[in-house]
Amino acid sequence: MKENFENTAAREYRKAELKAVSYYTALYNQVIDKSYISNLTHDIQLWKKNHLKRWNGLSLFSRSSRKQEHRDFYRYIQWLNVTGKLEGYLDRSISYIYMRDLGKDLQSDETQKRIRRTADDVSRLLLKPPSRNQAVQPEFMNLAGAYRWAQKEGIEAAIIWLFKKLRAVAGHIPEGMSAEHAQRKLIKIIVGVVLHVTEELGEDTAPEERSRRLDAAVRLGYSYGLTYPFVDDLLDSQILTSAEKEQYSALIRTALLSGEVPELGVWSGENTELIRYIHAELSEAFLYISGYRETDIRQRFFAQSYVFFQAQDIDRVKALDYGGYTNEELYVPVILKSSSSRLIARSVIGAPEDEGFEERTFYFGIYNQLADDFADMEQDLKDGAVTPYTYYLQHHLQRPDLINPFEVYWAVISNLIHTVYHSDPRAREVILDRAVNGLKRYKERAGAVKYKETMMIFAGGIPEFNRVLQKMVRKADDVDFFDKLLRDGMIEQLRKDAADQEAFSQSFQHVRTLINNELLFSAEAGIPAIQDRLIHAANYSLEGDGKRVRPILTWVMGVNEYGLDGQDILPLLRSLEYMHTASLIFDDLPSQDNAAKRRGRETLHQVHSSAVAELTGLYMIQQATFQQASLNRFKPETVLALIRYSAEKAADMCMGQMMDLDAKGQALTLEQLDRISFYKTGIAFEACLVMPAMLAEVEEEEIAALKRYAYHMGIAFQIRDDLLDVEGDTEVLGKPAGNDAANNQSNFVSILGVEGAGKEMWRHYCQASDALQEIPRDIPFLKHLLHYVVNRER
Ligand code: IPE
Ligand code: IPE
Ligand code: MG
Ligand code: MG
Ligand code: MG
Repeated sequence: MKENFENTAAREYRKAELKAVSYYTALYNQVIDKSYISNLTHDIQLWKKNHLKRWNGLSLFSRSSRKQEHRDFYRYIQWLNVTGKLEGYLDRSISYIYMRDLGKDLQSDETQKRIRRTADDVSRLLLKPPSRNQAVQPEFMNLAGAYRWAQKEGIEAAIIWLFKKLRAVAGHIPEGMSAEHAQRKLIKIIVGVVLHVTEELGEDTAPEERSRRLDAAVRLGYSYGLTYPFVDDLLDSQILTSAEKEQYSALIRTALLSGEVPELGVWSGENTELIRYIHAELSEAFLYISGYRETDIRQRFFAQSYVFFQAQDIDRVKALDYGGYTNEELYVPVILKSSSSRLIARSVIGAPEDEGFEERTFYFGIYNQLADDFADMEQDLKDGAVTPYTYYLQHHLQRPDLINPFEVYWAVISNLIHTVYHSDPRAREVILDRAVNGLKRYKERAGAVKYKETMMIFAGGIPEFNRVLQKMVRKADDVDFFDKLLRDGMIEQLRKDAADQEAFSQSFQHVRTLINNELLFSAEAGIPAIQDRLIHAANYSLEGDGKRVRPILTWVMGVNEYGLDGQDILPLLRSLEYMHTASLIFDDLPSQDNAAKRRGRETLHQVHSSAVAELTGLYMIQQATFQQASLNRFKPETVLALIRYSAEKAADMCMGQMMDLDAKGQALTLEQLDRISFYKTGIAFEACLVMPAMLAEVEEEEIAALKRYAYHMGIAFQIRDDLLDVEGDTEVLGKPAGNDAANNQSNFVSILGVEGAGKEMWRHYCQASDALQEIPRDIPFLKHLLHYVVNRER
């Protein structure tokens, strides 16, 4: 039976619209009769008792200990802790999240208990001493932190899936849209949905059920969250032409009304690839959400999504220049879009209907929307976007009938405190804190002059009330919120990561070219023909499209980190790539992995013979030693130690290959898999880190940490290699995919399966990440290399 989405959606929209109109009318009346002012003036009196203790004279003493920069995440938390403010800070922050995101009433004992428990958990997490590299970035904001949480909840597969999705999203945010904000919003939605599920689960849920539900929450959160960057932001941006926007909006509307994603249809022009990606991704998301729950819940979700989309669409097509919008036309869509977006976060998980939640959430939405619109006023004005604020700025002189959005904002607050939360002192406290903080943040950002100007426009007509407000803004302490700290930290982190990532690829490319120019053997005139053949064979292998990860790593460490001269360590770089290439030549032989392709070309033994390949491998190993012995800019005893170490490691690698070949068809344990991978692959990475460190004579302790990093990074590298053998593409890899299965090879994937191998890879990622924290210097390259290793496609 075909589900009738269209009727449900239309009905839902009418219902929501009626409710929004009556909410709007109540607000309108309060703004006109100014009753919100008298209500709030009393609230503010009560609120002041907690906040303005130092109004009389004492502020001189407290000033010095007052302000602590937010920029350094950990120091700020520490400061809150030592000044005894942390508890209050977390309490109001978490209470706020419970109100805004979870639609809770703070009066219930159960909610209070949960808020306290959550605050304790967060506090414990925050007060764990940060490791050296986390001065700015809290642990839970990086991939390792997220993965560890997933391990604890038994949802590794979902988080690995999410990592992959988020990477793809980041790679598809077009220029002209803010990549950081798109990612931040998406992550925020996912966290919101996970929070809803955690709330629903309570304490007595069996672990398997908990994992199952949280796994779904992550996927549902992503599926729904996608609409923020790829529906809302995309349509707000200037990326699509108006015709494209229309076509795209129609597509979304059809999907929401029919419950099925229509075909993309004809699309051309420069946005085609982007739209194809989005269409495919949204279709998958749509299917996932559709498949999650029974028909009626699905209908509720799509109907709410329709209300959300439709209300946004009405707002979006408004023109700032047009002078004729009524107050109702301005505010009703705002009420609708802001409330539906929050209602969806609960209905997407198929939670049972809850009248209290729906009521509170409905009235709360516009509070956030108006706070955000106030903060974004200048940008919106520039973009020509219609919000209650921009529209008022543009038209209020000609349109005395327009109500003032700043007054509406305070009327919303008054209504929330008194009607929605029944004058609950906790709700009053948190909401007023938040509102004062919003003004403070705006003032800090805009500067005092601009702030005064803005206030004149919006609060000039309510001078008494404005005086009270401004006093709060000037004097109130302890009104900041953890989610704002996180938001700022996250934006900073995402920006930094993007810049570091870019620097990483640049430096990778740069060094790769540099090394490629130094690798080949030159056949001097007059050398014996037999040697000429060997050199040609060796160069044939070296000329292939190798990634050069190993010598690049050595170069970056040696030159960038230890300050060695690039020219001086060239022989070391050559030796590393010679040994590695030789190991590949041997590895591909019919007697070993029997591979026909390597680095995008036929393998050496295919072109010549096994004998030639073996001799070329040997030749290159000897040349590697020759190069090492030519490190003549370093102390002879250091070079001797290096050669000795190198020989030892090369021998270990032989052992690794032998174990690997012996293991064919065997059921290996995890320990055996780790061991084999470390010997055949990890050791080489260790050498790339240890050798430049030896030349730079760095401390043993640092070398030990580097070895730990190399151990886990090397195994992760091999697991990714094993995964690529089943998931990769021969063309991209430059070597035959599926070769391991053909050889009945025992590796991470054959033993643990794709999912299990992925988990192991990320486990090693986390451990390598830990090891990085122990290296007594900050080396972003190693962090990004780790990233690269687990995400590479070749
Ligand atoms: C392949 O190494 C052998 C393994 C250790 C898995 P790479 O993947 O670094 O190969 P190239 O040098 O880029 O060809
Ligand atoms: C080989 O591992 C490791 C060394 C070359 C020492 P694999 O056999 O998995 O490498 P590929 O897949 O052939 O590159
Ligand atoms: Mg092999
Ligand atoms: Mg092989
Ligand atoms: Mg392999």
